[in-house]
Order: sequence, then C-alpha cells, then structure tokens
Amino acid sequence: MKVLSVVGARPQLVKLAPIAQAFSGTEHEHVIVHTGQHYDVNLSDVFFTGLGIPDPDAHLGVGSGSHGVQTGAVLSAMDPVLELERPDWVLVYGDTNSTLAGAVAAVKMHIPVAHLEAGLRSFNRRMPEEHNRVLTDHAADLLLAPTEEAVRHLTAEGLAGRTELVGDVMVDVCLRVRDDVLAGRHPAPALPEGIDPAEPYLVATLHRAENTDDPRRLAGFINAMAALPVPVALLAHPRLVARAEAQGLKLAQGAVHVAHPLPYASMVAAVLGSAGVVTDSGGLQKEAYLLGRPCTTLRGETEWVETLADGWNHLVPDPAELGDEWVKLATRPAPEAARGTPYGDGRAAHRVVEVLARHHAG
Ligand code: UD1
Repeated sequence: MKVLSVVGARPQLVKLAPIAQAFSGTEHEHVIVHTGQHYDVNLSDVFFTGLGIPDPDAHLGVGSGSHGVQTGAVLSAMDPVLELERPDWVLVYGDTNSTLAGAVAAVKMHIPVAHLEAGLRSFNRRMPEEHNRVLTDHAADLLLAPTEEAVRHLTAEGLAGRTELVGDVMVDVCLRVRDDVLAGRHPAPALPEGIDPAEPYLVATLHRAENTDDPRRLAGFINAMAALPVPVALLAHPRLVARAEAQGLKLAQGAVHVAHPLPYASMVAAVLGSAGVVTDSGGLQKEAYLLGRPCTTLRGETEWVETLADGWNHLVPDPAELGDEWVKLATRPAPEAARGTPYGDGRAAHRVVEVLARHHAG
C-alpha cells in the first residue's frame, strides 16, 4: 500500500511525526508532500529535525495568500504530484487550507482520501478551519476520528458508515516527548528574556484570525495578559507579529514577554515548567490537558470539549467582560480532579496504518 500524506502547517507536522514513525518498519510506502503553507524555519523546518520526520518527497512552495489563493495554489500544484505518485490513499490532516486542497485534489482524480482528525466541530462558521473541516469530511472516503465526540458529529451528519475511531495521534507524540523531557533528554526551553524558569510563569499563544485580525479584540487580549501578576511567555506566531505591527500595537508590555514560536520538545518542556497556559490554539489546549496544566482558552467555543471537564480548560471569549475574575481565572491552580483518557492510549498512529491497510485490502 502506498500512502501520500499532505501537510503544510505547523500542527500538521506534529501529527505527521507519529504517522511517519508508524509507517517506518512496515512494508507500506509513505510519501510526504509539504505544501509550503508554513515556510518560516520556526514553523516548519524545526519540526522535521526535532521530531525526526523524514524530508518531504515533494515541496509545493505555495506560501501565504488569501484563503482562495492559498487553497487554489495547493490544489493546482497537487495534480502533477498525484499523477506521478498514484498513491492508494491520500492522507490529509486537521483543518487548514492545505487539508481541504489536498482532499479536493485527490477526490477529483478518484484517489481515495482519508481524513485524520475527522469530525471536530466548533459550530462557528466564521472560522476558516470550520469550513475546511466540514468540506474535507464530506469529501473524504475514510474518516479517522480522534474522539467519541467526533464520531457523534460525523454520525449526526450522516457519515457514520465511513468513520473509524482511532484515537488522537497527538497523544502519541506528546507523551513520548514528555517522557524524553522528564528524562532530561532535551535541553531546557529558551524562555523569553525576563522570565525565570524557577518562578511561576504562564505560556501563551495567540494566532487565530478571529482574534488577531480585529484590532479591538487583539488589543483587549494583550492588555489582559499584560495585567496578570505572573510573567507571561508569549510565543508569537508570525500572523500575530504581523497584525500587531500593522495595528501599531506593542506586544511586550506589562507581564508579557515575547519570543519566537518554540520547537515541539521545547514547547512541551515550557508547558511542563509552567503554572498554566493561555491560548487560542487547539493543539496547545490539549497538550496542556495531557501535561496536567490548567488552560485558559481565548475563544467562545472549543473543538476539544473533553478538556473542559473539572475546569482543566476554561473558555474566555473576552477577558474584559470578566473584570477582576480574569486574573483569578488565568492564574488558577491545576484542578485536583484526575484527568480521564478521552484522547486514547498513545497508539493512534499504529491504528491509522492498520485501518488504512484494512480498507485498502477490503
Ligand atoms: C494556519 C491554519 C490554522 C492553524 C495554524 C497553525 C488555515 C486557514 N489556518 O493558520 O488552522 O491552526 O496554521 O499555525 O489554514 N506566516 C508567516 N510565515 C509562515 C506562515 C505564515 O509569516 O511560515 C504569516 C503570513 O503573514 C500569513 C499569515 O502568517 O499571511 C497566516 O498564515 P496562514 O498559513 O494563512 O494561516 P495561520 O494563521 O498560520
């Protein structure tokens, strides 16, 4: 069986790592296509080297652009690659423009498509990621769901017949790297200057279009973080830096200390060393949960509803609405309640390979 993975953005590289590892040592062939949606060293290259992912077999070099331009560029660049490789499966990941374009390109050439992390829903149609999820799920032939909740969403949309519950591959990679960090196999993370790793600090990220592209919202989030009584390590995505600059907003103010995005193992180490997380990232909410740190999510909804149990994660669409409660919430200690294992046992990637092989043979 020949499987062609299409990736392009940072969270997809994290998910690709355990999949590539699960394929190595099998008789199956695994081809990697990088769309080039993310091209910064900090968002792309360090994930290949840091997570031991083989170099991509093809690089489409699409770069940035409006949604239509970016999605269209991947779509048209995929045709010759699929023509050349003729895989048995195209495997697409998550919810980015690269995901949707990879799926549509394969469907048009009658190549079976599997969607990893299928069935997630925010029910917020303003998010580009939500369009990408819904359209990709309905185009794909095989839906690899990470959670029971995702299976319920797919069932409600009439897609149960194409769905397989495999668990979440991010557990595979997160727990493996956590063990390496705890065993001292990774250097200490480079925290922003001014943050003492021996003292309590928070890890923060902010990059979603709905939060960065509205000047009033963005200024509100930065002011709220600046007012916290503990230092905040803001690991700034290029979108955040670009939008703040365009809006004349200074990110480093008050408690906020700014640094570049971290490689994966450093991020895991930074979260393990922290008192908690403030973010609008999907992946980081779940990593905080897996690593046992309280998370405050700067959104009105989450796809990872399991993290909300017992207050491990709290949704805050607008910190200003909370008044004094904001500081208390963002700096709350970890709940005492034990966490469940809603995301699986850390063997999801092996299950993905088995399921693809079974459906290919069948
Ligand atoms: C994308 C995904 C989002 C994912 C996120 C993770 C879509 C619609 N969004 O958002 O689901 O959570 O990646 O990081 O696919 N830029 C750079 N260098 C880069 C990449 C981006 O400077 O390497 C800047 C560019 O100014 C670009 C902007 O960031 O215009 C946005 O990049 P884009 O790939 O469109 O979306 P992300 O915000 O990264």
